Amino acid sequence: MKIAVIGTGYVGLVSGTCFADSGNYVTCVDIDEQKVEQLRDGEVPIYEPGLEAIFSRGIREGRLTFTTKMKKAVKEADIVFLCLPTPPGGDGQADLSAVMKVAGQLGSLLEDYTVIVNKSTVPVGTGDRVHEAVADNADEQLFDVVSNPEFLREGAAVDDFMYPERVVIGTESERAAEIMTTLYEPFVRSGNPIIVMDRRSSELTKYAANAMLATKITFMNEIANICERVGANVDNVRRGVGTDSRIGKRFLFAGIGYGGSCFPKDVQAIHYTAGQNGYDFKILDSVMKVNEAQKVSIVDKMEKYYGTDDFEGKTFGMWGLSFKPETDDIREAPALYIAEELVKRGAKLIGYDPEAIGTFRQATSQAVLDKMEFVHDQQDALEDIDALIICTEWNEFRRPTVDRFQDHMKQPVIFDGRNLYDLDRARKAGITYISVGRPAVNVPELKAKAAE
Ligand code: UDX
Repeated sequence: MKIAVIGTGYVGLVSGTCFADSGNYVTCVDIDEQKVEQLRDGEVPIYEPGLEAIFSRGIREGRLTFTTKMKKAVKEADIVFLCLPTPPGGDGQADLSAVMKVAGQLGSLLEDYTVIVNKSTVPVGTGDRVHEAVADNADEQLFDVVSNPEFLREGAAVDDFMYPERVVIGTESERAAEIMTTLYEPFVRSGNPIIVMDRRSSELTKYAANAMLATKITFMNEIANICERVGANVDNVRRGVGTDSRIGKRFLFAGIGYGGSCFPKDVQAIHYTAGQNGYDFKILDSVMKVNEAQKVSIVDKMEKYYGTDDFEGKTFGMWGLSFKPETDDIREAPALYIAEELVKRGAKLIGYDPEAIGTFRQATSQAVLDKMEFVHDQQDALEDIDALIICTEWNEFRRPTVDRFQDHMKQPVIFDGRNLYDLDRARKAGITYISVGRPAVNVPELKAKAAE
């Protein structure tokens, strides 16, 4: 099939590359000339495991091309994917200006029947609006507008695209449904379903999935907060509840809150949509509030441990700056908030991340940059620090030897926002170890008292 992908951001690039890898001819369109040049030269602008290899193959074999010219790409395409940015607007609702602008241009470019697909996460009803905008300049027989939400996780996007647990297609048109099903069949050979439904339900499915996952995480974070108060261990509770197949084992890991480009934005957007339609989505109100607090809960623990909110003269190491492992994305990353709070309290910071130092530098405030040094080796972030703070569970942080901590840090004190280490091992190694929803280890009595 011939496919045009409009927008070469994260979703567009991954989708276009993966479609090309499964034998389709894909033209990716972007208005940013510099970006198109870069892509043509074979440079992948994002870090995503496995992407570079299939990207290069697509270019080499001529199935993946890049252009700034939408006209030619759309004219030749059987399917046009809209993968445009939908950033949060001022009122909590997604800003659809990019999608609507392109939709307004599409109609006059259509020659033969074309399926137009909304892949960006868009509010319910956007498919109708796109349909109207295209119909302003085209016969309605010439096209259908389909919703096809993406469920990609950053860091696992290529695998998620190639082996989806399900594909959701929202359309009332049988013709469009058939074309979309044919396109996706190679990706679900293992028997996972392609679920065809009405367009509005499909649009809502994306928000419902993300809001439910964000709620699941937040629920466990609250259980962790209770564990800390009653002397229980959230790891045990997680195993105890996760083995109930109705609950499931995944997405039950307590930590310092969810971040990223999707959960925070989508929870806010569905909450807003509900409100616009006269429904108060109360549970999501709480989810948002709890998550805000959870992001900086580690700072509260530090204040309790030190018995003060004045961190002047203290230097803390920070391991992990991205919002989660295997990505350089720092959007809504807890590390951003934690750094801000610690600097406000007078601390100096040494930050390390395998991929996200550059993006973190760009996103953080000047006040943080003035007090933060960045290093390119995890060990260098331990030199002479008062405590280590772990914000992201990169694999390389999972197995540092206990001696490493002892040798380099001024004091072996760790505040772990991702529960990486075994409590017994930390205890035996004499490390002060404070994590999430688990008993604090080797906390000297005096300081423990001050914490009360
Ligand atoms: C998410 C959805 O998973 C994906 O389907 C959707 O298309 C886009 O949003 P992503 O934002 O890439 O993907 O990250 P994900 O791996 O889902 O993690 C989201 C956040 O939840 C991260 O901050 C992560 O650290 C946190 N998380 C996840 C937890 O705190 N605990 C968990 O058990 C799982």
